[in-house]
Amino acid sequence: MHILLTGGTGMIGRRLCRFWIEQGHRLTVLSREPAGVPARCGAGVRGIGQLDELKEEPIDAVVNLAGAPIADRPWTAARRKLLWASRIGLTEELLAWLGSRQQRPTVLISGSAVGWYGDGGQRTLDETCAPVSEDFASQLCIAWEETAERARDLGIRVVLVRTGLVLASEGGMLQRMALPFRLGLGGPLGSGRQWMPWIHIDDQVALIDFLLNRENAEGPYNACAPHPVRNREFVKRLGKALHRPAVLPMPGSVLRLLLGEMAGLLTGGQHALPSRLQDAGFSFRFTELQTALDDVFTRR
Ligand SMILES: NC(=O)c1ccc[n+]([C@@H]2O[C@H](COP(=O)([O-])OP(=O)(O)OC[C@H]3O[C@@H](n4cnc5c(N)ncnc54)[C@H](OP(=O)(O)O)[C@@H]3O)[C@@H](O)[C@H]2O)c1
Repeated sequence: MHILLTGGTGMIGRRLCRFWIEQGHRLTVLSREPAGVPARCGAGVRGIGQLDELKEEPIDAVVNLAGAPIADRPWTAARRKLLWASRIGLTEELLAWLGSRQQRPTVLISGSAVGWYGDGGQRTLDETCAPVSEDFASQLCIAWEETAERARDLGIRVVLVRTGLVLASEGGMLQRMALPFRLGLGGPLGSGRQWMPWIHIDDQVALIDFLLNRENAEGPYNACAPHPVRNREFVKRLGKALHRPAVLPMPGSVLRLLLGEMAGLLTGGQHALPSRLQDAGFSFRFTELQTALDDVFTRR
């Protein structure tokens, strides 16, 4: 298969590239730094800076993961604009390019997050649920999904991957969360009762591959392990994996003072379940948080 990825140089994208290259697929990554793609994604992966570079070369699938990191800095007006343009703007570009082509891929797998539901409080959320509350992160995901869904009008199967917190050794939110723990300053955030859907990166790669190959898979899929935990439990398990205490709470009021609306990413959460993936027969390798964290922090 010839697979085009946006965000292929990111944490999830790099793992996907490695996995698919081993399977013998041909990969092209759209990147702001195309020359650096082979070094970051694998020697056989081609980098392009513009979609037009592909001309009418046949593409079998598109995986759309690009987007400026959501939790890197506070959401100033300029940051919100960048977060929006790098996802919705880029997906619109992708749609216009797909529409202009004679040959079209059969499937578009497009990124999203469990944040699509907003802060779900204590409600259990599967893919039949509507958003519970609205904040900037949920608006971003809703608009990102709606834009990607327009590819259906072009005869393309559209899959939306509502990802939880990805547990990986090479970066992301988990490694940032781990920093205060390493200094002995870790503990629950806010009330500690908020739910944290999580997923091991190996399962994230496996489920994207599963959805790529399952010809009747379409629409939204919660990409999170079947046993989400509350923040209090998560930090306890993280402390255990790092052999550090997890007793210093960080009050929600301090987080809000430091991070503004972005604090909601930490003080709110979703009790999301991967119902559609399980119904489709996907089996998770990592279902227990402690095993997943131990794998990320000790075995790699
Ligand atoms: N990791 C998680 O826990 C998690 C959870 C939920 C949802 N997600 C979503 O899933 C997607 C992939 O996650 P990830 O962790 O692999 O992301 P990542 O490591 O932050 O990589 C995202 C990629 O997006 C591109 N990008 C960054 N800023 C951009 C900008 N201003 N304009 C255009 N492109 C830009 C970059 O590619 P180039 O530098 O090559 O252009 C980058 O490699 C993201 O959109 C993320 O929001 C991730």
